[in-house]
Amino acid sequence: MSFTIRPTRPYDAIPIAAVHRATAAIPGGIARRPEEITDGYINRILHEALADGVGLVAVEEGGDVIGEIHAVRIPVKLFSHVLSDLTVAVHPDWRGRGVGSALFQALFAAARGMEPPIVRVELNAGAGNAGAIRLYERLGFRVEGRLEKRGLLPDGRFEDDIAMGLIL
Ligand SMILES: CC(C)(COP(=O)(O)OP(=O)(O)OC[C@H]1O[C@@H](n2cnc3c(N)ncnc32)[C@H](O)[C@@H]1OP(=O)(O)O)[C@@H](O)C(=O)NCCC(=O)NCCS
Repeated sequence: MSFTIRPTRPYDAIPIAAVHRATAAIPGGIARRPEEITDGYINRILHEALADGVGLVAVEEGGDVIGEIHAVRIPVKLFSHVLSDLTVAVHPDWRGRGVGSALFQALFAAARGMEPPIVRVELNAGAGNAGAIRLYERLGFRVEGRLEKRGLLPDGRFEDDIAMGLIL
């Protein structure tokens, strides 16, 4: 089965929430827990991406949303060439089939078209999320640092965050 990538639209809110909740149900991936994927959160990311960022969905042949990526320009002049606050989620049934990579390549293409230009894309990944870190390095991100005990896991353990950046 194949899929396409397109910009998010306001009516994608419900299917995007479903993909994020299915993703969040598996610990060790995205930061938010399922109950934190609220309508307010989804509406905010849709709005921010539209206002001055990038928001894209992967859609399978039948029209269902199977993945989402978003990031936003930092709204401070000093950092205004930086696309940040990046989150990516691919439905568990679709992992390992190139959806995440395609979402990132489309995000880079969209970022290159932004005005004023985006020069840097940044993200954080949990140190335990080795698969995601490997994917990001393959896409061109470099490890830039380690934020000790930034995450508090559901079982009470702390986890470091890995700061990664890519120069477009
Ligand atoms: C990380 C994620 C977006 C990658 O999307 P994807 O469509 O599976 O990625 P692709 O098929 O393009 O690339 C596969 C690579 O993704 C990485 N990966 C990370 N988690 C994975 C998973 N659960 N299943 C498969 N691949 C995964 C691996 O590096 C894999 O490469 P490998 O085959 O060499 O191990 C997706 O797995 C996901 O949504 N994970 C849960 C949420 C998450 O971790 N988000 C990132 C938070 S920083």
